[in-house]
Parts: sequence; C-alpha cells; structure tokens
Amino acid sequence: MATKPGELVAIYPGSFDPITNGHLDLIERAARLVDRLIVSVLRNDSKKPLFSVQDRLELVAEVVRPYRNVEVDYFDGLLVDHATARGATLIIRGIRAISDYEYEWQMALMNRRLRPDIETMFLMAGEAHSFISSHLVKEVIRLGGNISDLVPPAVEQRLKHRFHGVQS
Ligand code: PNS
Repeated sequence: MATKPGELVAIYPGSFDPITNGHLDLIERAARLVDRLIVSVLRNDSKKPLFSVQDRLELVAEVVRPYRNVEVDYFDGLLVDHATARGATLIIRGIRAISDYEYEWQMALMNRRLRPDIETMFLMAGEAHSFISSHLVKEVIRLGGNISDLVPPAVEQRLKHRFHGVQS
C-alpha cells in the first residue's frame, strides 16, 4: 500500500518464531499510535528458526487480522532499507526487562547511524506479558508445559502439532 502524505507509518520488526501474546500486546499499543503499522518478519535462516518464514507470516497474518491498520510483510537485509522502501519513518521495538536494553540500544543507534531520519520507539508490554519470549514458549511446550495464556490459539495449535504431532 502506498504511503499517503502526512501518514505516520511504523515497522515492527522481529523474528516472530513464533508470535506471542507479548508481541500482540505491543502490536495493539503501536497500532493505536500510528496510522499504519507493518509487522515485518525477518527471513533469518542463519538463526535456524523453528518455523519457515511462510509459517511465521501466516501466523502473524492470522493474529493481526482484527486490526484494520496493521499489515504483514517480511524482509531480508538491512531493516532501515526495508523501512525506507515501505515509507516507514518509525521502528517499534519492545523492551521487557533491563536485560533487553543493551541489545536494543546498540540496534537503535546503529539504525540511526545508517538512516538518521528513521526513529526507533520503545514500548513496554503490559506486566502480564513482559516475561514472555518466543524462546521460552518453545521450551515450555517442548517439555509438555501449558502455554495457553502465552500465545494466541492458532500459535498454540501449530506448536502442539510441531512438537507433539497433535492436530486439532
Ligand atoms: O525478534 P528479534 O530476533 O529480536 O528481531 C531482531 C531484528 C529482526 C529486529 C534484527 O535482527 C534486525 O533488524 N535485523 C536486520 C538486519 C539489520 O538491519 N542489522 C543492522 C541493524 S542492528
């Protein structure tokens, strides 16, 4: 979709392997602040993701369907190049605990060095979601724990199928 003059377009980038309720909380908050929000999945084969980029895109698309100003995309290469190509002037990232800060600080300053006209904005998920990570969700389901309040139902189904062969 082409950017209209005066429209505030933001990118929310990530691996989303898979999308969790923590990501969704951030999407809801960001979607209220901007005209258009593009949730962009990194095609990071080098990180050996559990889900293919197609699977991750499908899950994100399903979860964000209720939000009229949220779109889904994927990218390779530099995030700032992708943001520029999509007409976005804002990058949204979530900060959970102080342990996230150093990595996020480095990325934000590197992105600013590459494209000074693109700003990074940090949002905090609600406290009920601030401990959730895709990594821990995968570990808990793999070991047979309950993840039903950590991920959207479509993601839970896909994870159960992947780890335990359960089809619903
Ligand atoms: O969910 P993640 O894995 O923490 O997301 C990390 C992501 C996708 C935001 C980051 O790896 C990224 O932007 N990668 C694209 C490569 C890039 O632009 N690197 C230079 C800026 S640090």
